[in-house]
Amino acid sequence: MPCSFYPAELTPAQTRRRHRNGEILYDALGIDRNDAAARRAWNLLNFRFFGAPTGIFLYLDTNATPFQWLDLGIYLQSLLLLIEEAGLASCPQADWSMYGTTICQATGMDQGTFLVCGIAVGHADPDHPENFIRTERDDPLASYISEDP
Ligand SMILES: Cc1cc2nc3c(=O)[nH]c(=O)nc-3n(C[C@H](O)[C@H](O)[C@H](O)COP(=O)(O)O)c2cc1C
Repeated sequence: MPCSFYPAELTPAQTRRRHRNGEILYDALGIDRNDAAARRAWNLLNFRFFGAPTGIFLYLDTNATPFQWLDLGIYLQSLLLLIEEAGLASCPQADWSMYGTTICQATGMDQGTFLVCGIAVGHADPDHPENFIRTERDDPLASYISEDP
């Protein structure tokens, strides 16, 4: 079944990293944190595959177990690497799953299938500010010595 993007309860460290990634993204785009309209306008670009000429949808059977989810993750990674090897760029997009039922109907998928994500495929725009973003990394040892996982 379709699921939410994040666990119902994030740890403090996960919440901090999530907020920080948002800050980094909207800073790069020049969008004020309180400018909900601009944030929404940016998010809506998801549904134009961010201007890419090609979009792929990945589906899974609704009765999939965690092991089929594992298979799908391996498949997704392989696909992204092949796209890269072909000299193209990609953006996996879980946002499409918000409209999964509609997309399954529009693309003729049967009822036992749901949409996991979309993938935008095209040539990267090396000058776009978002493409300069490198998300930060925590010290991998910190979680072993901190109470804040
Ligand atoms: C499974 C998955 C789902 C994602 N969903 C979205 C999404 O819906 N919208 C979006 O803008 N980025 C989404 N992202 C993030 C981007 O696809 C991309 O990974 C991120 O911008 C970092 O890109 P980079 O690893 O090439 O630097 C998703 C990433 C993954 C792995």
